[in-house]
Amino acid sequence: MINRDRNWWQDAVFYQIYPRSFFDSDGDGEGDLAGITAKLDYIKSLGVDAIWSCPYFVSPKADNGYDVADYRDIDPSFGTLDDWKTMCDEIHKRGMKFFMDLVVNHTSDEHPWFRSAAASKESPYRDYYIFREGKEDGSEPSNWMSVFGGSTWQYNEPTDDYYLHLFAVKQPDLNWQNPKIMDEVADIIAYWAGLGVDGFRLDAFNNSDKDQTFPDVETMPGEKYGFASQHYVSRPGVDEYIHELYKRELGPKGLVTVVELAYCPVQKAIEYCDPAREEFDMLYFFDMLNFDQEGYDKFKPIPFKVSDLKKTMNHWISNLHGKGYCALFIGNHDQCRALSRFGTTGKYRERSAKTLANAMYFLEGVPYVYQGDELGMTNTDFQSIDEYNDVEVHNYWNEHVVEKGEDPEKVLEILRERSRDAGRAPIPWDDSPNGGFTTGTPWLRLGAEYKTVNVQAEDKDSDSVLNFYRKLLKVRHGKQCIIRGETEWIDLDSDEHMSYLRKAEGETLASLNNFTDHEVTVCLPEGFNADKAEILLSNCGRDTLGGTTVKMSPWECVTAIWKD
Ligand code: NOJ
Repeated sequence: MINRDRNWWQDAVFYQIYPRSFFDSDGDGEGDLAGITAKLDYIKSLGVDAIWSCPYFVSPKADNGYDVADYRDIDPSFGTLDDWKTMCDEIHKRGMKFFMDLVVNHTSDEHPWFRSAAASKESPYRDYYIFREGKEDGSEPSNWMSVFGGSTWQYNEPTDDYYLHLFAVKQPDLNWQNPKIMDEVADIIAYWAGLGVDGFRLDAFNNSDKDQTFPDVETMPGEKYGFASQHYVSRPGVDEYIHELYKRELGPKGLVTVVELAYCPVQKAIEYCDPAREEFDMLYFFDMLNFDQEGYDKFKPIPFKVSDLKKTMNHWISNLHGKGYCALFIGNHDQCRALSRFGTTGKYRERSAKTLANAMYFLEGVPYVYQGDELGMTNTDFQSIDEYNDVEVHNYWNEHVVEKGEDPEKVLEILRERSRDAGRAPIPWDDSPNGGFTTGTPWLRLGAEYKTVNVQAEDKDSDSVLNFYRKLLKVRHGKQCIIRGETEWIDLDSDEHMSYLRKAEGETLASLNNFTDHEVTVCLPEGFNADKAEILLSNCGRDTLGGTTVKMSPWECVTAIWKD
């Protein structure tokens, strides 16, 4: 299905599926494509317009599918190409679009291109990757640190040199400076477009161009490797590569893109989404995930301040206003659960889950709901290191516990709080064993609260987090003040609430959100006639704002709208 209206996504809501944890149709303990198909009515019932699924291609799953060994086929654990076609058809039949994850900054080391390239310097695929001799003393070609810890270089014995991997050892980076990579990727896009995909989420694409002189970088005291993002983030090649893909495949076929943007300055991001430059459509930036930690170290959490969240969102949204759209999300598969991080898991768990959604999803941008957030899922309570699956977790454990001898209990505590696996638990569909996710043994531990926090229970409860999400997505659609209105923050510096107005075409929407467990007063601007405001959404049964001074209960949220 080719959709030539390139702007349909501006009023859309996306649902993000992590397929391994979504629904297992065949009892092998892992979610699969037939499982997604089986649950499409559920997804549709949320009121979403498009689905983005994380990868399910042939892969050794060293990074859970972000290490692709065959771009044109489905990993047997997820099903077959026919299952994919059925899933895609069924999505379209329900009037939704389908985005796939395009992981082309790197491949798996088990991809036939890499196998050949690593085996011999004469391989026709040698220049598909980035190999370099070691330094004179035999050490790595540079001291760059990998995103998952350790060096970005891995020694390759058969050719006595090193290959570059910005991520895991099993994820060698493609050499985009070789024009053959462009041809290969354009072909992959054409292949999936031919099968009906509507768009792509481009994984790590702003890392595709590297400074191939590989200069050494500064390191932190006592560290061997240093953070080298200035040499591989948002370099000029990225614009060239995506523009060519746009010209060749994306533009003519009406395919829409959302690009993952790590460490990207907003001015560069504005260029990326400028329609005249024909590069990317939506921006999936990361800054909102980096402020409650020390620098770029996700495993060094610092207390969450709602004022930091607001300032980060304000920075992006005010700069992008009228120029482009960012993805609005509170969590994804690379994060612990948003509720455990920004909300509360105690007495006000449900209220705070609703408040997070209400605070984030009325901002300017395109909402992305990560599976399970609509249920109010919290972090998984892992008991030991053996229960974790993620390569990032195991690398961290090896570095900190095995090599540096740090206290294992303290490291486990950090991992429970901040690991990616904490947010990857299987979706609980009901209160039966394994939450109805699988009849087999789940590949990852289920969340502890699945007996009560599950789809079946929440579906029946009109006051559940799930039904709040349904209402929210319904009222959000079609309103100009939400799609393109200006944002006016109320008390941007407050550490107690996140509140703002959105205004367009004589209509104003107010989203007021108390982020504390005590009463908070939010003052609306002077002259506003509160009696005129219609309440669209409330998590405390509120039916009026009751004046310009709104006294809000703990973790209360409300959204109201009025005509000027
Ligand atoms: C970003 C993906 O979201 C993450 O899961 C993955 O590990 C890296 N890119 C590498 O592909």
